[in-house]
Amino acid sequence: MLTVVVDGFFGDTGKGKIISYLSIADNVAAVVRGGVGPNAGHTVVWKGKEYKLRQIPSGFVNEKAMLYIGPGVLINPLVFLSEVELTNTKGRAFVDYNCGIIEERHISEDRKNPHLKGKIGTTGTGCGPAQRDRVMRILKLAKEVEALKDFLEDVPLRINEFIDKGEGVIAEGTQGTFLSLYHGTYPYVTSKDVTASAILSDIGVGPKKVDEIILVFKSYVTRVGGGPLEGELTEEEARKRGMLEIATVTGRKRRAAPFNFKYAKRAVMLNSPTQIAVTKIDVLFNEAKGVRKFDDLPKQAKDFIFNIEDELKVPVTLIGTGQDTFEVIDRRKELGIL
Ligand code: IMP
Ligand code: MG
Repeated sequence: MLTVVVDGFFGDTGKGKIISYLSIADNVAAVVRGGVGPNAGHTVVWKGKEYKLRQIPSGFVNEKAMLYIGPGVLINPLVFLSEVELTNTKGRAFVDYNCGIIEERHISEDRKNPHLKGKIGTTGTGCGPAQRDRVMRILKLAKEVEALKDFLEDVPLRINEFIDKGEGVIAEGTQGTFLSLYHGTYPYVTSKDVTASAILSDIGVGPKKVDEIILVFKSYVTRVGGGPLEGELTEEEARKRGMLEIATVTGRKRRAAPFNFKYAKRAVMLNSPTQIAVTKIDVLFNEAKGVRKFDDLPKQAKDFIFNIEDELKVPVTLIGTGQDTFEVIDRRKELGIL
């Protein structure tokens, strides 16, 4: 049973929180991270503590779940090892033998290069330069790194075994549809495709094995770094509406805009979701904060969700109502999906 979770906007829609919830609610056997690498920050609030994870999958909150990073994903060994410690996951966190390794020179290039740092506004984590070296076939791989020797696995094999036994697996996408190297707002994009198909390739699972694809939208749109953002609000207006966020990895202010159906429809086309998750609805409707039952939402919040379903023709099964892992309305049973 494979569920792929990907982002329908520009990243930072709250995938981390949705994945942490699902890892427990569905009692999955494994969570495997795809995507680019440590340029992505996923925030999980678990037992009152906030975790900002750049490598370890957000499903670490389920202590029985195995945690993997697919061969398509870049590893910064220092970041990975410090997160293993932070989350206390030694023994169940593994990277694939063939994950590419980010070295100091990639990071300094990413931070100094005027095109990357100045124009594109990258996260400065070395991902773009490391991707280039992988394409040039000179990038070091995880199996060559002494510090990772206790953490190496054949991740595609393990993941496919779990799926074939009928156990639950979550594929954790990173970034967002419009940061895709192919489908995003080029050149203001990340260094790889990050749509649902790409996440499958990152982890080494074929498309026939997918059961559910959950496309995550936030109740409004944000983006960090350069590039177009339709309907962008002024910083002051974003602050007034509670939409002014600070980026997880870089600490930059995120630019904000209202929910955008043009982006959302195209993201549906590119990712073929079976379900949609809508997060942070409490930012738009205060009374939605912490609500766990759909019926308890204020009328305008319900109408907001119904409108998304009407426009996108995909059921909204999960609704985020706060930061905590369990601040979620899970409609899957009532909608006949679970
Ligand atoms: P890079 O991925 O660091 O090369 O950055 C390229 C662009 O993608 C920049 O606009 C970054 O801000 C953006 N970006 C990369 N990863 C994320 C993410 O996880 N969330 C939001 N934006 C991201
Ligand atoms: Mg993020």
